[in-house]
Amino acid sequence: MDDERLVSPKNREEDSVAEKSLRPKRLGEYIGQEKVVDNLKISIAAAKGRGEPLDHILFYGPPGLGKTTLCQILANEMGVNVRITSGPAIERAGDLAAILTNLKKDDLLFIDEVHRLNRAVEEVLYPAMEDFALDIVVGKGPSARSLRLKLPKFTVVGATTRVALLTSPLRDRFGAVHRLEFYSVEAMEQIIRRTAQILGTEIDTDAANELARRARGTPRIANRILKRVRDYAQVTANNHITLQVAQTALEQLEVDELGLDPNDRRVLHAIIDLFGGGPVGLSTLAAATAEEVDAIEDVYEPYLLQLGFIQRTPRGRIATRRAYEHLGLTYPDRISPEDLQSSLW
Ligand code: ADE
Repeated sequence: MDDERLVSPKNREEDSVAEKSLRPKRLGEYIGQEKVVDNLKISIAAAKGRGEPLDHILFYGPPGLGKTTLCQILANEMGVNVRITSGPAIERAGDLAAILTNLKKDDLLFIDEVHRLNRAVEEVLYPAMEDFALDIVVGKGPSARSLRLKLPKFTVVGATTRVALLTSPLRDRFGAVHRLEFYSVEAMEQIIRRTAQILGTEIDTDAANELARRARGTPRIANRILKRVRDYAQVTANNHITLQVAQTALEQLEVDELGLDPNDRRVLHAIIDLFGGGPVGLSTLAAATAEEVDAIEDVYEPYLLQLGFIQRTPRGRIATRRAYEHLGLTYPDRISPEDLQSSLW
């Protein structure tokens, strides 16, 4: 279901093809994430100065914020190749060994969803990251011997939406850990203008601002929405996105003023209507909304938390007053145990 959503931050085939030409290729073109970008500039200059590969780097944060893009930019800035793979794609230790032995000096190895590497594969990755060595076992039984192959010095760039799921030995092997945050409205607006220019569509300032405010601080969503709005503008408005065009198109797409779509609202309504506003446990909420637990945690929750629409408590998720108000519902004025206590005195 999630893949059908216009505002899903998950990567889709259509994005991959189109995104390539929209993605910034150098750090100078990259908008937002200033802290991360500044740190990367230092790492690049330092590594170049020493004539060494970059330290291993971990990017984490919600999907769609530019982890893959940043890795490709790093490769461009360093003038090296990048090999792209993902945790679930590397099934056996031998798969990783094959990748590692094909790397050249200074290459980047991008591992998306790095928290999903299995234990046997991680065991091979540790010495590769630490000592640039590949330990292979030759033979079986008592005559088995371990051989150590030297690998060229390379850089692992890991990406994850769930940093807490990384094992600590793996996490410790990344020299630099960068958290990507949702983009500000100003940054989103600039990204939308840049994309519109590349797509050859005229967009008014207020229209760009409107889209920026409804794209959940996520460039992948901004670019996807922009393409849909552009279709609308092309067919009905001479390829010119005015505020009116943007608003009408977004209304048709059922993306509300804050960028929530019917699925987000369904999650909020479930907490409020079915569970009295919460607290409700994650798995119960997933079952009630027919979503995967992972989708709730990775896709829906981060932005709803950021908006202050839900809270995570030890007993489960709670819908806040803001969520009620956004949905046009009256917030039930509950008496907190503390208030009750003091009113009794
Ligand atoms: N397109 C997608 N993300 C971008 C970013 N951070 N800067 C510029 N263009 C982008």
